[in-house]
Amino acid sequence: MPLKNNTLPLSGLRALVTSGPTHEPLDPVRFLGNRSSGRQGHAVARALAQAGAAVTLVSGPVSIAAPEGVSVVRVVTARQMLAACRAALPVEIAVCAAAVADWRPLHASRKKLKKKGAAPVIALTENPDILRTLSRSRTARPALVVGFAAETENLAENARAKRLAKGCDWMIANDVSGGAGFDAEENRVLFITRAGAEEWPLLPKAEVADRLVSHVIKHFKEKR
Ligand code: CTP
Repeated sequence: MPLKNNTLPLSGLRALVTSGPTHEPLDPVRFLGNRSSGRQGHAVARALAQAGAAVTLVSGPVSIAAPEGVSVVRVVTARQMLAACRAALPVEIAVCAAAVADWRPLHASRKKLKKKGAAPVIALTENPDILRTLSRSRTARPALVVGFAAETENLAENARAKRLAKGCDWMIANDVSGGAGFDAEENRVLFITRAGAEEWPLLPKAEVADRLVSHVIKHFKEKR
């Protein structure tokens, strides 16, 4: 159950957080996916709830427990994630921390693919971009939309460009070359807004979440 305490700084605000990977089926036993653990997204959901927001956490398949005090919607694929996000609207705050698979197999076989003859060539098709869809929604754009950018090169430059391309307000960028940030306990990030970029030190993911939520609190305090 969401926490009910009107004295908390985000009381009265609704938040949507995406977390974890998506799995895109190839057949009943195989999928395309990635190594996202969901730790960063879940930590953000927890921190928002602790600050008093009513949080819906839309999570792909993860092995970690959902934080207390948030409503969890479990999904598998990117398309399910988008549908669950749409169903959670309207919200004032959206944080897209999920590592959504950019592509899915064009055809998911209903039967297990058998190992006969040549190896299969798998045609892929692009998945919907959830962050972009939320950011560019004409009817239900959250007042504050935050994305995460996973980059292996030109971190600041690529993340700045990604913020503009997706249309979100803030971007938290991390360098995932060598696997850092992915399936790890700590994260070193750049916090990018329209005003500029702030470099945060290597921090446990819970502290990255706390810092982000401090900025969210400040943002809404200034608006109220
Ligand atoms: N994202 C999303 N839906 C997608 C792909 C990405 O919502 N289909 C969101 C992620 O949750 C993250 C942000 O977009 O907040 C950036 O994700 P990232 O993987 O860094 O970028 P991509 O859009 O996938 O671009 P590229 O792979 O070309 O870097």
